[in-house]
Amino acid sequence: MRRIDRIEPFRVMQLLERARELEAQGRSIVHMEIGEPDFSSPPAAADAARALLDSGDGSFYTPSTGIPELRSAIARWYGSEYGLTISPERVLVTPGASGGFLALYLALVESGERVLLPDPGYPCQRHFVRLAGGDPVSVPVGPGSRYHLTAEHVAVHGKNGVRAVVVTSPGNPTGTVCPADHLRRLATACRDKGAVLISDEIYHGLTYGVDAPCALSVDPEAVVVNGFSKRWAMTGWRVGWLILPEPLIDPVTRVLQNIFIAPTTLSQHAALAALGADTVVAQMRAAYAERRAFLLTELPKLGFRIPATPDGAFYIYADAGRFTDDAQRFCQTLLEAAGVAITPGADFGTHQADRHVRFSYATSLEQLREGVARLGRYLAE
Ligand SMILES: Cc1ncc(COP(=O)(O)O)c(C=O)c1O
Repeated sequence: MRRIDRIEPFRVMQLLERARELEAQGRSIVHMEIGEPDFSSPPAAADAARALLDSGDGSFYTPSTGIPELRSAIARWYGSEYGLTISPERVLVTPGASGGFLALYLALVESGERVLLPDPGYPCQRHFVRLAGGDPVSVPVGPGSRYHLTAEHVAVHGKNGVRAVVVTSPGNPTGTVCPADHLRRLATACRDKGAVLISDEIYHGLTYGVDAPCALSVDPEAVVVNGFSKRWAMTGWRVGWLILPEPLIDPVTRVLQNIFIAPTTLSQHAALAALGADTVVAQMRAAYAERRAFLLTELPKLGFRIPATPDGAFYIYADAGRFTDDAQRFCQTLLEAAGVAITPGADFGTHQADRHVRFSYATSLEQLREGVARLGRYLAE
C-alpha cells in the first residue's frame, strides 16, 4: 500500500461539511463536534500583530526556531507556570503544535521504528508517524488508566523496540489528565526501553479543579509539544512550540529550516503578547468549566455513560452503547434528524470506537442547552 493510502480522512470534517450544507438549506444545527475554542484570541494578540504590520517589519522571515523574545518568554513561562528552569535554546517555535509534531517525527523516527500511541487518541499523531516512515502502534486504553498508556503497555509493546511513547494530557477525545505518579512510571518505562517520552500538552491550562503536570517535571529528557491554539484560543494564528532535550535541538532545527523556513512573523508577535493575557484565559476557562458541569449532569440523564470523568480540554468522551453499535451512523442520524453534530469514536481509533462519541463544549451554554433538549426529544422517540 502506498504511504498516502494509509492517511485517513478526518471524519469530523466530513460531518462538519454536511452540517454546513444543512445550514445552507436553512436548518439550525447545534455544533458539538468542533475541537476549536469558540472564543476570539486575546485582544493583545491582534493589537501586537496590527502594530507590527503597520510598522512594515512584519513581512520578513524570522529565525527558523522563532523570534528570540518569544523563545525567552516561553522559557520564562515554564518557570512561572510549573516552577521549571528551561533555557530558551531548548524552546523551538513552530507553525502550530502540528508543525512541531511533523518536524519532531521527521527528525526522530527512522523507517519502521515504532511509536506507541493511545487508542482512542488524537488521530493526526499516527498519520505524522506514518508520514515520517515510522510504525504507529495504537494501543487500546480504557478508563482504568484514564485513557493513558501505562508503564505495563510500554513493557509489553516495547519488547521489539520502541522509539517513542506519546501521552496527551489532558487528552483528546477524553479530557483526562495523566497524574504525576503515572507520568513518572511511564517515563521510567520509556527510559528502560530507550524510548523518548513525547508529551502533548496543548490543553494545559484548560483543566477544572486539577492541574496537569508537565512531563518535564518528571523527566527532564522528555519532549514537550504545546502551543497557543487552545489555552489562548489562537488556532488560526498557527503558533506552537517544542521543548527539546539537547541532542534533538539541532536535528529538529534542520528539519524546521527546510520544511517551514520560519513560523509566521505576525503570529509570533501576537503570541508573545497573548502569553501575558492571563485574565482573558481565566475567563475562558471559567466559561468552559460551567459548560462542562452542565453536560456532565445532563448527558447521563439522556443515557450516555461517561466512563472516566474528564478533567480538562473541552471534550466529553461518552459511551453511547445504549443507543448504538454503529456510532458513525448514529452521529449521521443525530445530525440529520435532530440537528445536533457530535463526533463518532472512529475519528480517534478503533478500540470500542463503534459505541463511543465525543461531545465538544467549545460552544455557548445556550447552544449546549438547545443541543441537550434536541437530543432528549430525539432519543425519547
Ligand atoms: C491533542 C491535540 N494536539 C495537537 C493539536 C494541534 O494543535 P495546533 O493547532 O497547535 O496545530 C490538536 C488540535 O486539535 C489536538 O487536539
